[in-house]
Amino acid sequence: MKKNNFIIVAVDGGAAAGKSSTSRALSERFHLMHVDTGSFYRATTLKLMEAGVSSEDTTAVTQALSTIKLGTSISGNTASITVNDWMPDASIRSQSVNENVSHFAALPELRAFLLDYQRSQVEVAKKNGFSGLIMEGRDIGSVIFPNADLRLFLFADPEKRAQRRAKEGITDSIQKRDQMDSSRKAAPLQCPEGATLLDSSEMTLEEVVEKVSGWIESLLTK
Ligand code: DC
Repeated sequence: MKKNNFIIVAVDGGAAAGKSSTSRALSERFHLMHVDTGSFYRATTLKLMEAGVSSEDTTAVTQALSTIKLGTSISGNTASITVNDWMPDASIRSQSVNENVSHFAALPELRAFLLDYQRSQVEVAKKNGFSGLIMEGRDIGSVIFPNADLRLFLFADPEKRAQRRAKEGITDSIQKRDQMDSSRKAAPLQCPEGATLLDSSEMTLEEVVEKVSGWIESLLTK
């Protein structure tokens, strides 16, 4: 039945769990539009920080968000967010953004602001001729697309994840961010019921991609 139909794949998991590399590889293999929602939270966090807005001042956050217009720019299989026509760059992965993003991401005001935009990526993908959408984040399978065709939750033990980030030369407070992202009230990081949990601690990227590809293929021929 699913043959040739548009598919939605949700990929959730903690920081440095391998979501981006896995999603990018799968997007190439199945011609899916790849969307990294972590970059949405990072880009808006950076803009709010630049505007001198504190995550504790929700009135100021709401006011600042009302001046932001979001857009989408597609390059290859990847769709990137634009914020008032600014295209996010490496600055959204700086140490100061790493330290602040979870505080802003915990705010229902920011999550509500990004909700419809995230869902609207389905239409963007369809309009641009993709066979589906692969979206990564923390709440994609639980909140954004609870009816996604495949809801994957990637797990990897904290030590392995720290090693991955160190290899990339990135200083990141992985465990602190995960702790904050998991314990917040609004859309906490969690493996939603019915999602497919994959522990990649002892797997290579290629093995993870092969495993998930098998699931996607069986979905496509259902
Ligand atoms: O995936 P990432 O590490 O780039 O995400 C940055 C932060 O954004 C992360 O600490 C939590 C937040 N985030 C979120 O709350 N919900 C999402 N769907 C994606 C990211």
